[in-house]
Amino acid sequence: MSTPVKVAVTGAAGQIGYSLLFRIASGALLGPDTPIELRLLEITPALKALEGVVMELDDCAFPTLANVVIGDDPEQVFDGVNAAMLVGAMPRKEGMDRADLLAANGRIFTGQGAALGKVAADDVKILVTGNPANTNALIAKSNAPDIPAERFNALTRLDHNRALSMLAKHLEVAVTDVEGLAIWGNHDDSMYPDLYNTRVNGKVAADLVDEAWITDTYIPTVATRGGAIIKARGLSSAASAANATIDHMRDWMLGTDGKVVSMSVPSDGSYGVEEGLISSFPCTVADGQYSIVQGLELNEFSKERIAASVARLASERDQVRELGLIG
Ligand code: NAI
Repeated sequence: MSTPVKVAVTGAAGQIGYSLLFRIASGALLGPDTPIELRLLEITPALKALEGVVMELDDCAFPTLANVVIGDDPEQVFDGVNAAMLVGAMPRKEGMDRADLLAANGRIFTGQGAALGKVAADDVKILVTGNPANTNALIAKSNAPDIPAERFNALTRLDHNRALSMLAKHLEVAVTDVEGLAIWGNHDDSMYPDLYNTRVNGKVAADLVDEAWITDTYIPTVATRGGAIIKARGLSSAASAANATIDHMRDWMLGTDGKVVSMSVPSDGSYGVEEGLISSFPCTVADGQYSIVQGLELNEFSKERIAASVARLASERDQVRELGLIG
């Protein structure tokens, strides 16, 4: 077998980690012929629990799992990694507002960004799932100036998959009948799924549904799905978040074969999104490089929604700049 691909996962003893690690180790990320070395980062008090998860990984005897390294030191764990999934973050606690969360989690990503800049492999791809994902990715990017900016992405694939599944269900078609769907903006309740550039069996999706359904039902249901899952399950979405994290990283590493997917990437100014903000766009991937799909027509409604979501990103960026977390 070839040299293992080193895949780092942070927050590895958490809920998402418990689903993510087993999927990666079983070959869901890079297929059955690519050996994987898992490099798992946790905070010191969670290392014991992580040891238990590693025992379970051992007990699966996955043919593709070549090695597992665990630790609480980012520089040791990230050494030589080719892919880094930054999942670990602090959940919002009672009495914490968004600014407190930005400050608490932001500090995690300054340290991890700097460590990746020092020790990751030259081809490293970094995907942030831990919330607020887009701004955490911006912080990590800003603290790793030697890593090309486009190697920092954030996860909006879960919103994408939710939007895809809900549309297909509503129209009673298969998810594979839907093409071109994408989420724009921030991974929060302002995210915007654009049905005007989505096609269902060749027809524009927005023409197949009521306009009121888009604004009053579809967008709010996609946006609040996370809360609905907490209400039903008593815990936040974990398996679907792990699945989306794998979908994003697999497509980024192996390509999308022309298929449009949603990726939060550093804006190059496309569609008027301020350059440098990490915002969700329709993207395709070839040869390990993503491209923002160009030439889409955005109607006034889409432009307004995207601008509102991008304004949230700019405001979060300003807050973390004030906190001294980015330059
Ligand atoms: P969890 O609380 O079960 O696990 C988080 C883990 O991160 C814990 O084990 C904790 O010890 C660890 N951690 C905290 N600080 C760390 C640090 N500095 N370094 C390494 N590990 C650290 O949370 P869960 O459910 O696994 O979610 C993780 C994150 O993913 C949360 O921020 C959540 O909001 C976010 N999320 C993002 C989604 C998206 O679509 N972008 C979807 C669902 C969750």
